Amino acid sequence: MCGIVGYVGKNNAVLKLIKGLKNLEYRGYDSAGIAIYNKNIEVVKEKGRISHLEEEIPANLVGNVGIAHTRWATHGVPSKINAHPHLDNHKRFAVVHNGIIENYLEIKNFLEQKGYNFISDTDTEVIPVLLDYYYELHHDVLIAFQKMLKKIKGSYAILVLAFDLPNTILVAKNHSPMVIGLGYDGIYVASDIPAILEYTKDFYFLDDEESAVITDKIVFYNKDFEKIKKTSKKIDWEMDETSKNGYEDYMLKEIHEQPSALIQTLNGIICKDKPISFVNFKIDKKYLESLRQIYIVACGTAMHAGLVGKYAMENLVRIPVSVVVASEFRYQNPIIDNNTLCLFISQSGETADTIAAVKLAKKMGARTIAITNVFESSITREADDTIYTHAGFEIAVASTKAYISQVGIVVALALYMAETLNGLKYEALKTELMDLPKFMSDVISNENVYHKLALKMKDEEHLFYIGRGNDYNIALEGSLKLKEISYIHSEAYPAGELKHGPIALIDKGTYVVGIITDDKIALKTLSNLEEVKSRGANIILVTNQKLKEENVFIIPKISSILSPILAIIPLQLLAYFIAKEKGLDVDKPRNLAKSVTVE
Ligand code: G6P
Repeated sequence: MCGIVGYVGKNNAVLKLIKGLKNLEYRGYDSAGIAIYNKNIEVVKEKGRISHLEEEIPANLVGNVGIAHTRWATHGVPSKINAHPHLDNHKRFAVVHNGIIENYLEIKNFLEQKGYNFISDTDTEVIPVLLDYYYELHHDVLIAFQKMLKKIKGSYAILVLAFDLPNTILVAKNHSPMVIGLGYDGIYVASDIPAILEYTKDFYFLDDEESAVITDKIVFYNKDFEKIKKTSKKIDWEMDETSKNGYEDYMLKEIHEQPSALIQTLNGIICKDKPISFVNFKIDKKYLESLRQIYIVACGTAMHAGLVGKYAMENLVRIPVSVVVASEFRYQNPIIDNNTLCLFISQSGETADTIAAVKLAKKMGARTIAITNVFESSITREADDTIYTHAGFEIAVASTKAYISQVGIVVALALYMAETLNGLKYEALKTELMDLPKFMSDVISNENVYHKLALKMKDEEHLFYIGRGNDYNIALEGSLKLKEISYIHSEAYPAGELKHGPIALIDKGTYVVGIITDDKIALKTLSNLEEVKSRGANIILVTNQKLKEENVFIIPKISSILSPILAIIPLQLLAYFIAKEKGLDVDKPRNLAKSVTVE
């Protein structure tokens, strides 16, 4: 989704900003732009890749202050005109913005009546024009900035360059992330830490409705525009994590990092012969006894990890768990009270719908726990407690290692609740969980097998994934991976549901991927596969059973509660190799964004 970078310092801002934007490329975007202050405000923007923008930047464009943006279209098609930065009619203000200004039409009408013109279809353009309107009235940039912030409604992370305020960037944030970093050669500001991590490890995190004026120092303001003091926090991430480390793509690298991601995730939580414990987080027996239900709320892959959590919790803890997509949860008037526990899973910790869902659940009296991969992300400031997944940076848009870590955490949480509630020790399951990384490495090392099959499948138009129980949860995630990166239409179905509709689509040669990892229901799914086979389908099996099929990926046998951690790997690699064979950009699939900060 949209990315923001800004720089005020001693060096040429152009190079800093372009580098920062490139560090954010993984988030997904369709146009990019830059504004530099050097006597005048100069703007260059282009549709398409950052490399395209670079070609258009004149060699003589230099300056020590600038702002830049990668846009992922919401209001208005991807185009040069709709790309950020946006200017006002007098070119006094240049603005980059993430989020959505909900009352932009009302503001636009008001300004049009005052004689202002708009050239783009974006909601963002009202910001510089409104700034100009207030500047005409008050002749003071800071007053204009604060008046503008009072008027706009919605979500925003905004950077402003003002003609009348040299060497300055104005910053504001509401429901969209924004961090400010203190570098050795200047002050950096960005929508995401990785954009500027190579320049600084010292970060200030803006809270909602806070703003700041950055020159050679930073002045922070609260929502009433009173000056406030904030303390910076050290981030101990390494920039190495953001390199491809010899792999062709981030996605392949991240698939290979899954065993170590799981080790990091469970480090300190699960130890042999000791009860499970989480740092800074406890649930006591009395509370668990009082619980009537658990909600797990998330989007995309994180929601699929939630489904695996439901399977583990309902089996081990015997408390009903509902898994709900965050964008539905927030509008469906959920049944929540003090006896409800709500878990929110989000790799980025910035997904707008998931954050809104946390706020709602909290307001309705639930205890809220965020499970996220990103330190100090917005969700951590909303939920009562946070559990970090520690998967390391995940850059490919299609989530792999973050999913594995999320599953690791929800299963560990289920075991923790079960131990606390039942007073039992689940040593066998815990040992299996700790042994998983080495099994995962074995499954990953079979890469060539998945590649060979991908060669045969790359021209397919439709695919089906089926399974029962936890195998269905794996089918959902496997199917999502395939459509995200290969653009092949695929659907996941509970195996038993196939004959209630989708079987009508099975034709000679249609590929159906079956997942069978649970002894209790293995034969049931197998007979569903026979049904499609007899209608001409090609079968692919991911299983831990001794089954004879042409295309079988055998994975080690473990408890059905943990099987997703192994069974998803062949499906990730199959999707990866199919997309590669189609010549697609696996790390940056079309239309998708790594973190979805708008509704
Ligand atoms: C986007 C990403 C997915 C991700 C989902 C939820 O759709 O492309 O990979 O699963 O958002 O993101 P979150 O950061 O909340 O886990």
